[in-house]
Amino acid sequence: MKLIFLGPPGAGKGTLAAKGVEICKVPHISTGAIFRSAIAAMSPLGRQVKAIIEGGKLVDDETTILLVKERLAQEDTQAGYILDGFPRTIFQAEALAQFSPVDKVVNFDIPDTAVLERLSGRRVCRKCGTNFHITFNKPKQEQHCDACGGELFIREDDQEGAIRKRLELYREQTLPLIEYYRKQGLLVAIDAQGSVDTVVANFKQVLGIG
Ligand code: AP5
Repeated sequence: MKLIFLGPPGAGKGTLAAKGVEICKVPHISTGAIFRSAIAAMSPLGRQVKAIIEGGKLVDDETTILLVKERLAQEDTQAGYILDGFPRTIFQAEALAQFSPVDKVVNFDIPDTAVLERLSGRRVCRKCGTNFHITFNKPKQEQHCDACGGELFIREDDQEGAIRKRLELYREQTLPLIEYYRKQGLLVAIDAQGSVDTVVANFKQVLGIG
């Protein structure tokens, strides 16, 4: 199944996608994670996007579309995928429809207050990218990843100014995608509040899985 996860920053897309990989047996493709890996590796792409991402702005459509097109040309995505963080603009959505039409778009329904609470307490593993939260999803060992033992850090774009910019750009550029996909009959909505287990159950229910 080819899925898009659509929702504001901090809605829990990456967290649910990590579970969705097991449930749907498809790869999780996060444009944000690809950019962050490129930054960590100091590759040409990483150098190009570092300041943009850390400031909470959007990478240009051309760069992002090319990246996703190349990733979706790989063998492991042919039976399906979970696209997390792409598309974020109507232009990106129209490009995706040309090279890989999706089956469903899962919109994460969540109020701003919950999003701010989630982003302000997020910790991320520097090594494997697993997400934690200082209150809702605590690591067993403080500052260390449960999965690989890597060091946990606060994302640059989880600083207050960058969060504000990301939410503003979400409303301007990404929110119109809800109507865009609704009109095409592809949109399903999940209540993204509640515990991770509750959100997983909501996800399975809207997709009609077990
Ligand atoms: P990206 O990485 O996609 O960031 P985002 O969309 O802002 O989403 P987040 O990763 O912040 O949040 P999430 O919804 O995945 O929430 P999470 O699961 O971590 O993009 C980063 C940047 O890259 C962009 O700003 C842009 O610059 C660039 N970029 C990426 N794609 C682009 C594109 N298409 N075009 C242009 N530029 C692009 O959860 C958040 C926290 O909440 C965690 O601490 C987690 O533990 C906790 N949590 C999750 N679920 C629950 C729950 N159910 N209950 C309690 N806590 C929970």
